[in-house]
Amino acid sequence: MAEALIMMKDIRKVYYPDIVAINSATFSLFEGEIHAIAGENGAGKTTLMKILFGLEKADKGEVLFRGEKVFFHSPSDAMRKGIGMVHQHFMLLENMTVADNVVLGMEPKRKGLYDYKRACEITKDLGERFDMAIDPEIKISQLAVGLKQKVEIIKVLAREARIIILDEPTAVLTPQETKELFHQLKLLKKDNFTIIIITHKLREIKEICDRVTIMKSGNIEGTYDVDKISVEEISKKMVGYDFVVTEDKETLKPGEVILEVKNLSYERDGKKRLDDISFKIREKQILGVVGVEGNGQLELSGVLNGVIRNYEGDISLDGLSLKNKSILEIRDRGISYIPEDRMVDGANLIGNIYESAIVLKSRDKDYRKGKFLKKKKLSEFTDVLIDSYGVKCNNKYDQVKSLSGGNIQKIVSAREIVEARRILIANQPTRGIDIGAVMTLHEKLKELQSNNLGILLISSDLKEIYDLTESVIVLYEGKIVARIKNIKDVSEEQLGRYMLGIEVQEDMEASL
Ligand SMILES: Nc1ncnc2c1ncn2[C@@H]1O[C@H](COP(=O)(O)OP(=O)(O)OP(=O)(O)O)[C@@H](O)[C@H]1O
Ligand SMILES: [Mg+2]
Repeated sequence: MAEALIMMKDIRKVYYPDIVAINSATFSLFEGEIHAIAGENGAGKTTLMKILFGLEKADKGEVLFRGEKVFFHSPSDAMRKGIGMVHQHFMLLENMTVADNVVLGMEPKRKGLYDYKRACEITKDLGERFDMAIDPEIKISQLAVGLKQKVEIIKVLAREARIIILDEPTAVLTPQETKELFHQLKLLKKDNFTIIIITHKLREIKEICDRVTIMKSGNIEGTYDVDKISVEEISKKMVGYDFVVTEDKETLKPGEVILEVKNLSYERDGKKRLDDISFKIREKQILGVVGVEGNGQLELSGVLNGVIRNYEGDISLDGLSLKNKSILEIRDRGISYIPEDRMVDGANLIGNIYESAIVLKSRDKDYRKGKFLKKKKLSEFTDVLIDSYGVKCNNKYDQVKSLSGGNIQKIVSAREIVEARRILIANQPTRGIDIGAVMTLHEKLKELQSNNLGILLISSDLKEIYDLTESVIVLYEGKIVARIKNIKDVSEEQLGRYMLGIEVQEDMEASL
C-alpha cells in the first residue's frame, strides 16, 4: 500500500479541566483521495481536524507528513505544508471584496503598495480553473452562503494548499449548490488535491468519497473503503446499534387556522425582500418553506418573531393582529422561534448551558415566586432538556462555546420546541445535527403537531421537507413561486426548478 500522505498517530486531546475530546485516534490520509469523517455530535471530528490544521495542540500523539514527524504550532505551520481548512462558520471580512479576502495577509505588492488589480486576477484565475468563477470586486456581505463558501475555498487555494479540510461544507447548501461543490471537489481531485470532508449526510459519503473514517466518543471506530460499506452500516457503526430509519409521516387532519399572513411585503435597502406573501397555518399542520438561502426566509421569520416591524400587510394569530407587537408580546402569544444561525442569536456562547436553557423560563410564572426564580425547578428543567435531547456535555454548567456545533444546535432547538404553544417557526432546526439526534428532533416536532400546534418549517434539507411536511411554499426573490398541496406529487428536480426561479408554478392554488 502506498505510504500515507498524512498519518496522525495515537492522538489525544483533553480540554480543561477534564473533557476528553479525543481519547486516542489514529488516522491516515492518502494523497489524492476524498476522505469523509463521520460520527455523532461531539465525537471529536472538528477537534481532530483542528489539530491537523495546527489550531489546537494535541496532548499526546504525533503527526507524520510523508513519513516525517511534523509539529504544527499554528495554522501557518500547517499551511506551509499545504494544509488548508474551511471552517463551518466562515471567517470572511464582510465589508471587503472577494479579492481582498482571498489575498488577506499575503497581499500582492507593486512598488511597495497593495496591488489590487493583481489580487483580482489571482481570484479570477483560481475561480476559473476550478469552475467557481466569482466576481472578485463584489463585497462579501452581498454574497449568499454558497458563494461565501467558494471564496473560502479560493482563499485556501491561493495559499497553495494541496490538502483541503472542509468542516460540514454542505450543511448550509441547497441540493443544487451541493452538486456544484461536489463537481468542484472532483476537479480538485483530478488535479491530485487531497480532500477531507466532515459530514453528517451519509448519502454524500457514498456519492463523492473514497474512504470514510468513523469516529465514536473520541475514538476512531474504523476507516473503510466507501464502495465496501453501505449507508446503513455507516450509521450503525456511528451509533453502535442497529439503526432503523422510520420516517413515517402521519397524515393528520389540519384543524383551525392559527396563523394568517396576508399580503406581506417588506423592503430593505431599496429592495423588496418579501413581496406580497400570503399563507395560512392550521392546527396540526407543518408548512414547509423551501428556497435557496437568501430569498426571503430570514426576513419572513424576522417578521413573524417581531424582529422586523416595518412591513406592509398583516399577520394574525388566532384571529388577533400581531402588527406592531414586540418580540416578547409575540412570544407571550405563543410563537416560538428556532433561529437560523445559532452562533449569532440562538445561544449566549459565553454563558453556560443552564442559562441558555432557562432564558425564556424566567418569565414563566410557574418558575418564579414573586421576584425570585425557582432555582431547583429550573435546574430540573435543564436536566430534562439535556437528557431528552441527548446533549453531549459534562454538566449543565459547561460553557456553551465549549460544546460541539451540533450540541449547541440541540440546546437551542430543544428550548424552543419545549416552549412552543401555538406556532413554532423552525429555521433550519436540524442543521449540523447527527442522524440519531435528527430523528429525536423530528419526533418532537411531530409531537407538537399532534398536540394541535402549527409549524413553519424553513429548511434547505429537502429530505427533511419530504419527511415532515405535506404542504410547501417555495420562495424566490421574496415571492411565493409555488404552492404545493402535497409534496409527494412534486419531484426534487421540479422543486429545484422553482427554487432557482427557472419556473413559476402555473395556476398557483390560492388556498393553502
Ligand atoms: N474549546 C473547548 N473547550 C472544552 N471542550 C471542548 C472544546 N471544544 C470541543 N470540546 C468538547 O470536545 C468534544 C468534541 O467536540 P468536537 O467539536 O470535536 O465534536 P464534533 O465531532 O465536531 O461534533 P459536531 O458534529 O457536533 O460538530 C465535545 O464534547 C465538546 O464539548
Ligand atoms: Mg464539529
